[in-house]
Amino acid sequence: MLIAVAAGLISVATSIFLTLPQPQPPSFYHSLFLSQSFSDNNSISHHLHSLTRRPHIAGSPANAEAAAYVLSTLTSYGIPSHIAPYHAALTYPLSRSLTLTLPPPLPPLEFSLRQEIYAGDPYAAVAGEVTPTFHAYAKSGAAVGPAVYVNYGRVEDFAALAAIGVNISGAVAVVRYGKIYRGDIVMNAQAAGAAGAVVFTDRKDYGGERWFPDDRWMPPSGVQVGSVYTARGDPTTPGWPSTEGCERITEEEVEKSGEVPLIPSLPVSWADGDAIMMSMGGRVADEDWQGGKGAGVYRVGPGPGVLSLNYEGEQVITKIENVIGIIHGAEEPDRYVILGNHRDAWTFGAVDPNSGTSCLLEVARRMWKLRKKGWKPRRTILFCNWDAEEYGLIGSVEWVEENREMLASRAVAYLNVDVAVSGAGFATSATPQLDELLVQSAMQVMDPDNSSQTIYDSWASSTGGAKIGRLGGAGSDYSAFLQHIGVPAADIGMGGGYPVYHSMYDDFVWMSKFGDPMFRRHAAVASIWGSVALRLADGVILPFNYTSYAHELQKSAEELKGQVLHKSLTLVPMFKSINEFKKAAAHINDEIKQALEGSWTTMWKDGQKVREVNDRLMMAERAFTDREGLKERSWYKHLIYAPANHNGYGSTSFPGIYDAIEKAKGVNSTESWRAVQHEIWRVARVISQAALCLRGDLT
Ligand SMILES: *[C@@H]1O[C@H](CO)[C@@H](O)[C@H](O)[C@H]1NC(C)=O
Ligand SMILES: *[C@@H]1O[C@H](CO)[C@@H](O)[C@H](O)[C@H]1NC(C)=O
Ligand SMILES: *[C@@H]1O[C@H](CO)[C@@H](O)[C@H](O)[C@H]1NC(C)=O
Ligand SMILES: *[C@@H]1O[C@H](CO)[C@@H](O)[C@H](O)[C@H]1NC(C)=O
Ligand SMILES: *[C@@H]1O[C@H](CO)[C@@H](O)[C@H](O)[C@H]1NC(C)=O
Repeated sequence: MLIAVAAGLISVATSIFLTLPQPQPPSFYHSLFLSQSFSDNNSISHHLHSLTRRPHIAGSPANAEAAAYVLSTLTSYGIPSHIAPYHAALTYPLSRSLTLTLPPPLPPLEFSLRQEIYAGDPYAAVAGEVTPTFHAYAKSGAAVGPAVYVNYGRVEDFAALAAIGVNISGAVAVVRYGKIYRGDIVMNAQAAGAAGAVVFTDRKDYGGERWFPDDRWMPPSGVQVGSVYTARGDPTTPGWPSTEGCERITEEEVEKSGEVPLIPSLPVSWADGDAIMMSMGGRVADEDWQGGKGAGVYRVGPGPGVLSLNYEGEQVITKIENVIGIIHGAEEPDRYVILGNHRDAWTFGAVDPNSGTSCLLEVARRMWKLRKKGWKPRRTILFCNWDAEEYGLIGSVEWVEENREMLASRAVAYLNVDVAVSGAGFATSATPQLDELLVQSAMQVMDPDNSSQTIYDSWASSTGGAKIGRLGGAGSDYSAFLQHIGVPAADIGMGGGYPVYHSMYDDFVWMSKFGDPMFRRHAAVASIWGSVALRLADGVILPFNYTSYAHELQKSAEELKGQVLHKSLTLVPMFKSINEFKKAAAHINDEIKQALEGSWTTMWKDGQKVREVNDRLMMAERAFTDREGLKERSWYKHLIYAPANHNGYGSTSFPGIYDAIEKAKGVNSTESWRAVQHEIWRVARVISQAALCLRGDLT
């Protein structure tokens, strides 16, 4: 120890008296960032362990402690950082109960609604700090009614029940998690007339023969907690930031907005779900409604058991804290490359989200080391650690709303990591101008699960050619950046879904046993995340390729052809604008190619031209937004990527068109089909705007 300290002093001394590091070209630093000597899985593991000592739900003292940890770590890496606080309406449970009354002589079943600790659980002492299982923003109240089983609670599941004459009106819907967002499950139950909803974890989707701590699967008492709010941001400040003392709408107005359910709901474990399912009478459910191996026969009800559900929650204006760290750009300080991840967790959050937080800190640590070697980014790099994501992306939405104009004029890209690691296998979703950059970065990082190939190789062989998803859903903090203000965005991670999701068992033990035993997957995610950020921050010309965007638009428009169901409709305006866009993309690519290959003329040497080309590349994504936004959901301004009403999970393009088609299919009136055509025109117009922006031309 003493020797190491002394050696450190000598090297500081020599660097002062001899030489400061000579600046090297960016590629030198980019390789260094990815080198073995820069990567540190032990440091990542240490950060994760520290961040997940206690359950840290948004608004809790433990989450403020975690914020202080992120702030001091970033600061110790020489990154000036601060807290951007908001005051958001969050809900917490006050009391809950669930009873199943059975025909005599069977006694009623009162469920404990408690997640159990296990022998040797290192978190036993803090298990009492875990918030009782609940649905955030659930309606307070009681619901009593016969139990009816509704499979995954999709619109088609309720329709199937109606078709066989099972009336859900006044019943308590018993639904399993898995296919759609839980907020949509409860909304669908409400629309069908249910008095309440009980949402259980089915062993079929989350369980195994053995479970945590012996295996990766959800234990019998494990419960998936989560929000049932269906919009984004603080519900009481729609469209504006939740600063202290700001204007707010009332709880009644929130209820009228249709974005929170008006019937109570509770999440329950697979043990409780199984007990309810085994009490169910009525007709045997179809094969695809049945449980997994070893489960008893599922029947749909109604009853004979009567469920009595009580939930009392409180809504509290609570301080939340985003941590923002800034490395100022040396040449273009007013251009931002933004890395974001949330910190708040339903319980310990080792997978969701702090695997991502540990990677954020790893990227910051490696950049600190680069700076000690003389690296200065061309553009500004922001590290954002969001709060209250789990409640409805609140921290990121409020920050984007508060800084809207600055971000809309300066943000180059937003790079999100929510769950960094839940297992093996790389996955990413992005706006298409980033595709090529993501592929190139994945080619530079070795697969932590197979040392003889790169992440790109495994990704390409497992998905049939490096498949990149799109950001049409609103499942994480990229939503405000892309869907509200039109900033190019990507979402990165390894592993996909995992069984202990949002339960008390998402802890450091689960991660180090099953998610990433060596923390090498974390290191790989940090490598890709950081290298994409470095290329965006340092490239003289932004590494965007809009030809991929044009291909993607063309593909999505072709898919629409099969959907256009009325002879009066035409897609011609859309194909015409996509053609303009394609030409504009080829044009700017040529312009850049010529400049890079030799004719780097005085015009380009003068930074003005570089800046002008980069602005076109940056602003083209903004052009896909429209001031009016989507119909009836005007917060969503992006007309290519946003959630469609009738496809909450979906990452289809053109949500406005799909919503209008869905409506017209039901109404089948001339006006409803004209409304579809109007949406087609709107999309065509934003694509033309983007084409003009890429060209940098006035008409
Ligand atoms: C379902 O039951 C409710 C009352 O329990 C009744 O008002 C409603 O008409 C029924 N719906 C159908 C489709 O039978
Ligand atoms: C690891 O990569 C090599 C080379 O690409 C490949 O042949 C092999 O099948 C891979 N192994 C596994 C377990 O995927
Ligand atoms: C880091 O990786 C090395 C192997 O590369 C491994 O020996 C070590 O245990 C890992 N550290 C942690 C905390 O898992
Ligand atoms: C852009 O991407 C297209 C394919 O999507 C590719 O053919 C082209 O070479 C790329 N252009 C540049 C300048 O990278
Ligand atoms: C919709 O209305 C048109 C007439 O306007 C009719 O030809 C068509 O069959 C209708 N389609 C459906 C599905 O009802």
